[in-house]
Amino acid sequence: MSRFEIRSIGSATLYRGDALEVLTTLAPGSIGDVLTDPPYSSGGNVRDKAQATSAKYQSSEHRGLYPEFQGDTRDQRSYLAWSTLWMGRARDLVAPGGMIAAFSDWRQVPVTSDALQCAGWVWRGIVTWDKTERSRPQLGRYRNQTEFAVWGTNGPRPLVGATAPGVIREPVPKVKHHIAGKPVELMDGLMTIMKGPVLDPFMGSGTVGVACAARGIPYVGIEVDPTYFEIACRRIEETQCGPP
Ligand SMILES: C[S@@+](CC[C@H](N)C(=O)[O-])C[C@H]1O[C@@H](n2cnc3c(N)ncnc32)[C@H](O)[C@@H]1O
Repeated sequence: MSRFEIRSIGSATLYRGDALEVLTTLAPGSIGDVLTDPPYSSGGNVRDKAQATSAKYQSSEHRGLYPEFQGDTRDQRSYLAWSTLWMGRARDLVAPGGMIAAFSDWRQVPVTSDALQCAGWVWRGIVTWDKTERSRPQLGRYRNQTEFAVWGTNGPRPLVGATAPGVIREPVPKVKHHIAGKPVELMDGLMTIMKGPVLDPFMGSGTVGVACAARGIPYVGIEVDPTYFEIACRRIEETQCGPP
């Protein structure tokens, strides 16, 4: 008996469960591209990674607004091993020439590009997310204004078709649905050269799924946390059908 739940919403298939487990059940060749935002385990503002995700990634006035999220306590060696595992299982599902784009903050970029290559993807570059001057200031330091999507391909990819942006400038949304919620416009910009189905093993509040629904691209999302799973289902359904 499977230990996860599956929900179909139009062209989206959503799994509530552990990505490592769910990925082994999907059909090889069934996925076009991977676009995802894993739990970076970077530690954010603190030294102790075991602290709550709200303490690590939010200023004190925003704490308590969102549920905590899971899987964010690994040290760098185990993050490399775990990322290699999920990226390898994801690559098994992707057709030749398909793409992967996985988010990282500056601390985890080196380990993310290592994992991507250990998993057999060809590392092709890094797209910069410029969070604009609305991002957190740091007195006496450079503003922490960027995060990154480390990207690669499953083997060769022909040089044909449109060119997607290498820098996407978009502020963190004022209304978020997740502690680490990203803008839909950011995900939409990244998927302009993806045909799908798009796999997102760490969907959180389903931002990639919302962008897919708006574009009519099939989506496969996985989330281990039941609260965020429900939020993702609701957002994707509302994008496909309109609010209730
Ligand atoms: C950085 S968040 C994604 C946020 C998303 N981009 C958004 O805009 O809402 C990563 C998500 O992965 C989930 N997660 C962590 N470990 C997981 C696992 N092993 N399998 C599936 N989901 C997992 C966390 O609960 C968290 O919601």
